[in-house]
Amino acid sequence: MDKFIVEKSKLSGTVRISGSKNAALPIMAATLLTDNKCVVKNVPCLRDITTMIKILEVLGKKISFKDNILVVESKKPRKHVAPYRLVKTMRASFCCLGPLLAKVKKAKVALPGGCVIGPRPVNLHIKGLASLGADISIKKGYCQAEVKKLKGNHIYLGGPFGSSVLATANVMMAAVLAQGDTFIEHAACEPEINALGQFLEKMGAEIQGYGTPLIKIKGKKRLEGCEFEVIPDRIEAGTFVAAAMAASSKITIEGADPSHLTSVFEASRKMGTKITVSSKSRQIEIKPPKKLKAVNITTLPYPGFPTDLQAQFMACLAKANGISLINEKIYPDRFMHVAELNRMGALIQKTGPYAIIEGRNKLQGAQTQASDLRASAALVVAGLAAEGSSKISRIYHIDRGYENIEDKLQKLGANIKRIK
Ligand code: EPU
Repeated sequence: MDKFIVEKSKLSGTVRISGSKNAALPIMAATLLTDNKCVVKNVPCLRDITTMIKILEVLGKKISFKDNILVVESKKPRKHVAPYRLVKTMRASFCCLGPLLAKVKKAKVALPGGCVIGPRPVNLHIKGLASLGADISIKKGYCQAEVKKLKGNHIYLGGPFGSSVLATANVMMAAVLAQGDTFIEHAACEPEINALGQFLEKMGAEIQGYGTPLIKIKGKKRLEGCEFEVIPDRIEAGTFVAAAMAASSKITIEGADPSHLTSVFEASRKMGTKITVSSKSRQIEIKPPKKLKAVNITTLPYPGFPTDLQAQFMACLAKANGISLINEKIYPDRFMHVAELNRMGALIQKTGPYAIIEGRNKLQGAQTQASDLRASAALVVAGLAAEGSSKISRIYHIDRGYENIEDKLQKLGANIKRIK
């Protein structure tokens, strides 16, 4: 298994942000809604994308993926079973359920199961698709669904932790081919849902209000193929903001969409960082202070502060001036990185869905272990700030969601290397 060795580093220069993993994955699932050719550009080359390609191939698609351009065609018979061996490695595969039901009228998708960031139920996905008339049962670890004809309905998709991104995606993708009108209330408003809405519209779907809590969909008989460009990855951009802050270094981020990062900039500015957005060149300059200030952060559905940046910002706050509080409102157990950061000299206490972070003057390099995608990014961020050398194992997690992370950091001057 590969490891990273990270040394305390100073960063400078410009980093280009890749396409968004979490936007690309549901868009890839949406290609199941047509037999025509779809061309998706700016798809990041990542392990999760490769997994989704394998799932689509099992379901009857023929795919080529080169230079971040994905071409999806239908040259094989359609299948409806997404097997456990693929689904277990990536929850996003569950969003094949909606498009399969809509197009093939039946679907058998392995239940994704638990996850290191806490329980991740699929009740909202099932509730939404059942409201459209699907007959759904759980048998032997698989979610089996079938329907004669999906019918539009009013669906409330709010859960105990707010809206659900992939449940909204699943219901949207089923409703676009349902008979009649569907209204999704308490829909997720994340930019990734907005991107999916745009993709579906390009396929010929009649859909309004995506990106807001009320989505209206008028079902169509068929959808066409299309060309689309995936939005930039706001979580990758936020991770580089955290890296710059941890390394007390000025960097420029290129290609990100600043309008997706308002809450992240708000938190960074409160930490004393100067952020300058140049709308013409789509460049964002990040200029952290010598010593970061403590802040309180609450993770929330978009446009709130993203849970997917909680760990990376915690790594920065570990060496801020004062005491910070993080309230994790999406995944109350998403704190596996706390113990690892404490191994590096951080002083963080987890209590329920809160983490209390007592800022230290220095972090020290240590051997740590990544537990999930964003936690591994947090350990890299901490490694850039820590005295001496940090060895991070299980970095296959980071390869799921960050395209060429060590190349990008090395180009910024970071001392990071991968060892096999
Ligand atoms: N929830 C339910 N029932 C459901 C579905 C979700 O109660 O049926 C709860 C979850 O347990 C959680 C909350 O609703 O408390 C929000 O979860 P959501 O469904 O929105 O998460 P998701 O759609 O499965 C996506 C991202 C995650 C990101 C979350 C929240 C993708 C592929 N994944 O997951 O990204 O954390 O939204 O923004 O888009 C990551 O990239 O590292 C990652 C975990």
